[in-house]
Amino acid sequence: MTAVALPAVLGGDPVITAATDPAWPEVGGVESAILAEITDGGQWVGYANHPAKWRAVLEQVVADTTGYRYGVGQPNGTLAIASGLRAQLFARGSSWAEGRDQVLVADLTHASAHHGVTLGVAAQLGRAPRLVPVPAKLDATMDEDVVASYLASHAERVLAVVPATMYGNFGAIDRFAALGREHDVVVHHDNALGGAARYDGAGAPTASLSGQGGGKAAPSCEGGLTLTDDPELAALLRADTDCGTGPGRLDPIPYAEVGPMMAGNQRMGEQPAALLLVQWLRALHARLVMRENRRLIRSLVADPRLFPEPVLWNPPPDAEYPPFFALYLSCTEALESSLGLTPKDLRVTLAAEGVWAEAGFTPTHLDPAWRQWAAGLDLPYEQSARVVERAVFVHTKFLRDPRFPDVLGEILRRVVAHRDRLRGIGEGRPEPVW
Ligand SMILES: Cc1ncc(COP(=O)(O)O)c(C=O)c1O
Repeated sequence: MTAVALPAVLGGDPVITAATDPAWPEVGGVESAILAEITDGGQWVGYANHPAKWRAVLEQVVADTTGYRYGVGQPNGTLAIASGLRAQLFARGSSWAEGRDQVLVADLTHASAHHGVTLGVAAQLGRAPRLVPVPAKLDATMDEDVVASYLASHAERVLAVVPATMYGNFGAIDRFAALGREHDVVVHHDNALGGAARYDGAGAPTASLSGQGGGKAAPSCEGGLTLTDDPELAALLRADTDCGTGPGRLDPIPYAEVGPMMAGNQRMGEQPAALLLVQWLRALHARLVMRENRRLIRSLVADPRLFPEPVLWNPPPDAEYPPFFALYLSCTEALESSLGLTPKDLRVTLAAEGVWAEAGFTPTHLDPAWRQWAAGLDLPYEQSARVVERAVFVHTKFLRDPRFPDVLGEILRRVVAHRDRLRGIGEGRPEPVW
């Protein structure tokens, strides 16, 4: 008999209770007050000669905290991807785009984000791109070596490369940016899952963020931003969202006349801007807790007193404030060989304890709605598939909770102590999804 409590999936009391379940989203009086001020003030949107106040504040705060000079509010992260690509294509002109039709996208991502890529290219060039899903590395981000060798042979067919922040890592954004310069192709960084994290290297010419609810780093309602260091691209981005009108004199982007463009109509309203701003400020605190939690969890899973051989792996953080959309743990082979458990056994066990743990996004090459884009490409997708098979992907609300490293430690001790009874527990049960 062991003194360690029985896992909840075997009939024990769950580690997470109503009292210890982290609040999500974290909200307070500031959100209500700022929304009421805007509602009562009557200016719910800004443009041209009616400058947007809260959108302008949000854009400056987000640009500063992410290390970019300019931000442009957008309705969501998908349209923010479209806007970044569009502005870069517009700036290059139509003759550069002749003979090019391909966009290299992340295989392991939220596949609906590819819609933003398609929209951005189609709006600017009047034709849809051919998407090329690029396999992921074990840290779940786009494989830069695959991109380098693809560009070495096919760069003249490529319009753009769109790497994505994924599961707590930025990936090789500086390398993608350098490859874009070397091969003269557009690079846009889909940083929807980056939130208030800050990339320390040289960024892509444009990047985009999302502020939509769910597990995002800064949940608000629909909302997003496009970021850039380049004042000319910033002016184009503003004109694109604001029906063709470039930045005015009270805009954080330097004043510029923008020539005629087939502009979109995707302004961010004052209420989503203000809500995202307050959530962003909360995320500045969350990123400190998350950074510390990630350090504690990395030492927990490497502790030989818990696991004689490490059965879980967390990718090394690649920034001072790494992205915190989720905690990503990958099951090593030792999970099977030393504990006799499968990744699904572990996900099911964690879910029963009240932890929102799942396998994560389906890669594009396995997604029934999108997999046709990978068909016929001579690219190695085994690693992308492996990430999902072996992932334990824990919702951001846990990673932000200072109690979570202890909670996880308790659950993992239960797993080790009762491993014989947990063997095969995942079989015949549905995959946990939140
Ligand atoms: C990687 C990634 N990119 C882009 C998006 C799109 O963001 P939004 O939902 O704000 O349109 C998402 C949404 O979940 C995402 O996960």
